Amino acid sequence: MSQAPTTFEEWWVGSYYRRFVEREGVPLYEGSILEDLATLPLKDWERRGGKAAYTRLGNQEDVNLQIVEIPPQGELKPEHHMYESVMYVMKGKGATTIWQEGEPKRTVEWEEGALLAVPLNAWHQEFNSSGDEPCRLLFGTNMAQVINLYHNLEFVFNNPFKFTDRYSHSMENFYADEGKRWNLRLFATNFIPDVRKFKLDPWEERGIRTSITRLYMGNSLSQLHLLEVSEGTYVTAHRHGAGAHVVVIEGGGYELLFQPGDELNPEKRQKVFIKPYGVVAPRTNEYHQHFNTAKGPLRQLAFRGWVRRPPSMNAKGEYDPVGAARSDNALAYSSKIRYDEEDPKIREEYYKELEKNGISLRLEPVDQGGA
Ligand SMILES: [Fe+2]
Repeated sequence: MSQAPTTFEEWWVGSYYRRFVEREGVPLYEGSILEDLATLPLKDWERRGGKAAYTRLGNQEDVNLQIVEIPPQGELKPEHHMYESVMYVMKGKGATTIWQEGEPKRTVEWEEGALLAVPLNAWHQEFNSSGDEPCRLLFGTNMAQVINLYHNLEFVFNNPFKFTDRYSHSMENFYADEGKRWNLRLFATNFIPDVRKFKLDPWEERGIRTSITRLYMGNSLSQLHLLEVSEGTYVTAHRHGAGAHVVVIEGGGYELLFQPGDELNPEKRQKVFIKPYGVVAPRTNEYHQHFNTAKGPLRQLAFRGWVRRPPSMNAKGEYDPVGAARSDNALAYSSKIRYDEEDPKIREEYYKELEKNGISLRLEPVDQGGA
């Protein structure tokens, strides 16, 4: 990739990211949905050891997932890179060591449910501390975007620049800090020991008994969030630019996906049952809607990319329609269908699913679903 092209095919490359994954020798999963990242087949990964796979979901190459498994007592080879990365632990327990060149190393231990920032271009190495269980990790990254932008692996993986504003050993509490809640629904942190227990803020505008917290991690512009839909409820359908990856981390239910124009056509709605660790990545402007049909909450972790702070939010963390209208940012642009605007068949079908599962709690029969 770093050499000059010699054939037309090499020169007229459609996707440097795709070419990179081929070179890695591990699977690339495409489409919009993967049922279970925890059991997704992986292949031996020579570059770092362990096993791995990559994704190209939602027909876009801005945000991608990297799924990695480390064998019992195993470790990955260290790396550093010019793309952003946040790690979620799907299975097992272990530790990550991070450092800047010439500085002492720092180690943080984790187990299932942990979410951890990998600071930009800092060295990092992952270890499995279990003697008999593999551990499985999920990295949400903008690797695809960065590799396509620079298409030079030497620059992406061997750049000596130290972003000491993102991480330095002098930041003593980098992973120990309990984080800062800047405002309603806005939280900056580098490590959450278990996102399944993390308290979220109410978000009635999206759905009755729904809550969210947006996470800024690794001193980056990460757009991650944790969304929780309570038992017996679902969120309003909405759409935005492609790139969002919604990973189920707790509970179960289903998703509806449909294109603008098909709002009232049940035949055109794609219904996908979800459970941990399924992922849904809607395509550009595709409506998506989350339904909780299980006992207890449905909790999802969404990777949405690393772009500027959403201008659709005012300083209090509230939705700001003026800012949203001004925005030229596809990810920040969002459009929703209120409960009272949606096809009534959607709710009828939802009630049937609740009955099947013996859930008696329901949304109020008439409500507006927020602004
Ligand atoms: Fe969304």
